[in-house]
Parts: sequence; structure tokens; C-alpha cells
Amino acid sequence: MSVARQPIGVIGTGYVGLVTAAGFAELGSEVWCIDIDVAKVERLRRGEVPIYEPGLEELLKRNSSRMHFSTDIADALEHARLLFVAVGTPPTYSGDADLSAVRAVVEAIPASDRHALVMKSTVPCGTGASLTRVFAEQGKDGLGYVSCPEFLKEGSAVKDFLNPDRVVVGDSGGWAGDAVVELYSPLDAPLVRTDIASAEMVKLASNAFLATKISFINEIANVCEETGADVVEVARGMGLDDRIGAKFLQAGIGFGGSCFPKDVDALKQLAGNSGYHFQLLTAVIDVNDLQKRRVIGKLQRHLGSLAGKRVALLGLAFKPNTDDMREASSLVLSARLLADGARIAAYDPVAEEQARLLVSGIDFASSPLDAVEGADAVVLVTEWQELLDLDWQKVAAAMKGDLVIDGRNALDPEAVRAAGLVYEGIGRR
Ligand code: UGA
Repeated sequence: MSVARQPIGVIGTGYVGLVTAAGFAELGSEVWCIDIDVAKVERLRRGEVPIYEPGLEELLKRNSSRMHFSTDIADALEHARLLFVAVGTPPTYSGDADLSAVRAVVEAIPASDRHALVMKSTVPCGTGASLTRVFAEQGKDGLGYVSCPEFLKEGSAVKDFLNPDRVVVGDSGGWAGDAVVELYSPLDAPLVRTDIASAEMVKLASNAFLATKISFINEIANVCEETGADVVEVARGMGLDDRIGAKFLQAGIGFGGSCFPKDVDALKQLAGNSGYHFQLLTAVIDVNDLQKRRVIGKLQRHLGSLAGKRVALLGLAFKPNTDDMREASSLVLSARLLADGARIAAYDPVAEEQARLLVSGIDFASSPLDAVEGADAVVLVTEWQELLDLDWQKVAAAMKGDLVIDGRNALDPEAVRAAGLVYEGIGRR
């Protein structure tokens, strides 16, 4: 697959940057990856992959001859006309996105009519307009600007990049938008070619809608618990309606990660800044905050006071197939349990190193069975396949108590009950 394709620069080597870079290299481009983190660039040059993402290491290895890593943006400017920007846009205290890393990239780029920025980072609607104003103020009118939001999911990022549901390209005319469309053309995905503001809003609205879907099914789950219905059955019945769709209807202990919590907040804040109160998103955030604590009430109902009780947390990452702990439900859960005096043993197949940086006062176990040893209760927090495949007879033999809370409705209740354990899901009978 190596027809010569246009070279690109990618600024920022986080999840989005690295996957974008490796993906375009796979499609045949020479890629110059730029990051200010010297140690990270050194590791990447040695062929080490700083994040856990299925398939990424192989993709980087396979395309290593086309991938170049540097801390100097001039290297990318020399070889490529399109510079994909994939730097972090974390939330500020006000809920607005922090665009300082994006602004630093703009500062670092000299006036040029050969180059264009292609925005992959998730930014507020209006960022493209304000950055093109900055270009003009700094005498860099010749720089092109394209909004090209990324929709990949951690844990399946490589697959998502190479098989996108759609490619969205927002621009205001000029060569750069066409060049981005051409870059994506081998993927043969539906294309949404639009203006910059609309492209920016597609990204924010998509994440906000998916988060709304999750909070919605979580509230249905909570009502199911009051009414005797089973949310898994309800979601199955709802999801068969094409207009609703089955995806993102899995009730559980709330959404986490580096995107949904931040992006929902950022859209709410963006609306608020222009005088509009986005009521629905306020509820989506509130429901999610409460959902993360719901397991505590379930534990108390079965065990009484949690002081001195041993609770095993199975899975810590915000979702399976990633080591990402950002906004993980396990962080809220473990802090609440510790505050109530419980003792925690936790196991995660991949995220332990990241978790250790954020959580103290809990024991990290080297296997699921070590974690459940002597436990009064077990909570499934992240639905890693390894945890779904557990032998529940062995778990029952190792535990002191008999309570299993399935925070992701991902276990087979019958298999758990057959081992003599008490199964409780979220919104399940
Ligand atoms: C999300 C979006 O799905 C991507 O399209 C988007 O590109 C990305 O954010 C981003 O903006 O960068 P990601 O955060 O990697 O991707 O993870 P998701 O698979 O969307 O899961 C987010 C959270 O929702 C996880 O905590 C997951 O456990 C939870 N979730 C998901 C549920 O609780 N129920 C569901 O039915 C689905």
C-alpha cells in the first residue's frame, strides 16, 4: 500500500497524535511527529510506545521507516505542508477548554503561505475563527486552517482510525481542505465537507450526545431498580429500534475518560459563555457524578457499615483495553470507600502503573484471585475480558463474604449465582 502520498506533520504525540501519525504512515505518507516532551521523543525514536493501545505498536513498527520524531517544529515545516495539531486541551477551573498548547503551536509557526494547521484536538466551536484572527494579527494571513475532528475511541483507536464512520473536514476554501480530503481518500469513508464552526460543533455535539445516551440509560437503570424491570432487557428492546440504536446503551457506574467528562463540560460552558443555559447537559453531568457513587449504597445495603470491610475492585481503567485512568469511575469509588473506612484490594491487568500515580491507601493485587482473597464484596469496575472469564467457583472459595456487584452489567448473573454468590448489577433484577 505504498503509493507515494503527501507528507504530513503531526504536533503532539498523545493518543490522537500517535494514532493519526501511524495511520497516515500506513496509508503511505512520510510523517514528522513533533512533541515538546524530550524524553517521550527519545522513547519513540527507540521504537518504544508510551501508551497502551491495541495494535498501535505493530502499526508504528510496520511504518517506522516513514515516521520521524523530533522536538523541533521546523523539521515538520521543512518536509510537510499540512500540520495536524493533536495537543491536549484539558479543562480549566471554569470548565472552558485550556487552549494554551494550541496557542503555543500557533506562536511557533512562522508566516507562510505554504502551510496549514489541521485541528485534530477537541476545541470549542469558534476556535478556528479566533485562530485565523490571530494569524492575521501576527501577519501570518497566508497560513491555512482546517478543522478535522477525530472520533477514535481509546482501546480501539487504530481500528477506528482506519475504518472511520465518517470524515469531517471544515474549511473556508483554499488548498488545505482539499489536501486533507485527499489524504483520507484511501479510507473511502463518508465525507462531511463543511465550514469550520460546524465541523467543530459536530465533534462536541457527538461526544455530548453519546454521554447523554449513557446518562439516560443509567437513569432508566435506576428506575428499573425501583420498578422490577431489568435494564439489560430494556436496552435490548430499545436498541433494536434503528432510530435509537443498540450502542452506548450499557448502564453501569458512569462514563469516564479524557473526553466525555471534559467535552460535555466544555460544551455546557461554551453555551453558557454566550448566554445559553444548556439544561440537558447539566443533568447529564449530575447523573454521571451520582452514578459513580451508586455502588456505595449497594454495598451498604448488603454489608451495613463499610468500616473495616474488605472490598475487591476488579478493573481500574476508565474502560477496558486502555491504561488510561483519567476520570475513571474507580477513582471516585475508591476515594469514597476509603473515606468510609473500607479496605481495598484492586486489580487491573494494565492500568496499575497509572493508578498508582493517582490512588494511595489501597493494595494492588497481582491477579484477580489475589484481589478477592478474604473480600467481603467484589465490585467489577472495568469489564476487561480477563475479568469476564473469571472462574466464579474459585472466586467464591477465596472470598470471605458472598457479594458481587457488577458495575458494568457485563457478567453472567447465572454463573455468579451458581457459585453460591449474591449477584447485583446496575438496574438488573
Ligand atoms: C470517546 C468517543 O466515543 C470517541 O468517539 C471520541 O473520539 C473520544 O471520546 C474523544 O473525544 O477523544 P473514549 O473516551 O475513548 O471515546 O471512550 P468510549 O468508548 O466512548 O467510553 C467512554 C466512557 O463511557 C467509558 O467510561 C465507558 O465505560 C462509558 N460507557 C460507554 C458506558 O458507561 N456505557 C456505554 O454504553 C458506553
